[in-house]
Amino acid sequence: MAFKSIAKSILHDAELLDEYIRANNLPQPSFDVDGPPRTVYTGETATAHASLLANTHRLHLLAEGPAGRWLPSLAGATGDAVTTAAVQHFKIADHVPLDSQASFEDVAEKCGLALRDFKIIVRYAMTNFIFCEPQPGFIAHTAASKLLAENRLIRASAAMRTDDIFLPGFKEIEALEKFPGSQEPTESAWGLAHNASLPMFEELEARHPERAKTFASAIEAISAAIADTAQLGVYDWASLGSGTLVDVGGGKGYACRPLAKHFPELSFIVQDLEGTAATGREQLPPDLHDRVTFMTHDFFTPQPVKGADAYYFRAIFHNWPDKYCVRILQNLIPSLKKGARVLIHDPHTPDPLTSHPWAERQTR
Ligand SMILES: C[S@@+](CC[C@H](N)C(=O)[O-])C[C@H]1O[C@@H](n2cnc3c(N)ncnc32)[C@H](O)[C@@H]1O
Repeated sequence: MAFKSIAKSILHDAELLDEYIRANNLPQPSFDVDGPPRTVYTGETATAHASLLANTHRLHLLAEGPAGRWLPSLAGATGDAVTTAAVQHFKIADHVPLDSQASFEDVAEKCGLALRDFKIIVRYAMTNFIFCEPQPGFIAHTAASKLLAENRLIRASAAMRTDDIFLPGFKEIEALEKFPGSQEPTESAWGLAHNASLPMFEELEARHPERAKTFASAIEAISAAIADTAQLGVYDWASLGSGTLVDVGGGKGYACRPLAKHFPELSFIVQDLEGTAATGREQLPPDLHDRVTFMTHDFFTPQPVKGADAYYFRAIFHNWPDKYCVRILQNLIPSLKKGARVLIHDPHTPDPLTSHPWAERQTR
């Protein structure tokens, strides 16, 4: 495909987005320290935004060419993963002043890093607009690094990404060799990286309660990025009338909160493992106490709430191999009354060759 034809699509989408930003008086997307953390696009601009990401990805790969996929280089996915993990792990963002700059020596020492290592990490991170070097040998924040310093949910997301995604990622080949075709949650790259004997969520709850809290906050970060309107629009919630909805594996209740606000007739029972359910209970806004309750429940045991109007599973099944998904549903069956609704809300993998590679890989 010619560069120009992809570039034309990119230009078309870029013009649409620029116009949307201008017409709505939104701040200009930027990595400058005061740039907006993210811009929410709706309707046709959401489509244009998705298409811009897809086509810039395609154009970039095409410009690099087929050999670019295989030539040894630390720049790209590996360098990005290692340096963002190091920035997070050594808490570099915490030691950079929010509204001024500091010398490399000063910040390296506060992070407990050798100056040489510090320079390698941050100068690579800067190529991803994480920190900047306003004058040689000095470091300051960009919008991306400032978020890591200031935003509780971004910090949790970054920590979860390091511990539960990047580090296990390096064990994937070993897991594939050791456990070919396994459908056991304990036989995984995550399990090898963390020397675990239980499935991930149970291992975190039982042995790493602080990390379990961080994981739950990372899920909260994903929920926070979903506009209330999107959660309200995924189902005809009003059709449940004054019924009870059980949110199975509902985390800290972030799917139910916007529903509870918009549907004052509905009641909610949020179920999760003990630690997560307890944190959800603690953090529940007082005005929702009368209609949202938390309950400890392991969804691999029989569902204790019998006869509810709906059982909701958001972002649950993608975490489990098929045979475990079947078990979760089997444990629900004895509690279902006639007409009860079982609502499954999860990203699904598109049929091969039906979507753009950029969109497809988000789900794989
Ligand atoms: C990806 S999160 C989704 C949370 C929530 N449904 C949402 O969409 O925000 C998966 C949830 O499943 C919970 N979970 C994992 N194993 C569980 C089990 N055996 N019983 C109940 N909940 C479990 C986790 O604690 C976590 O809160």
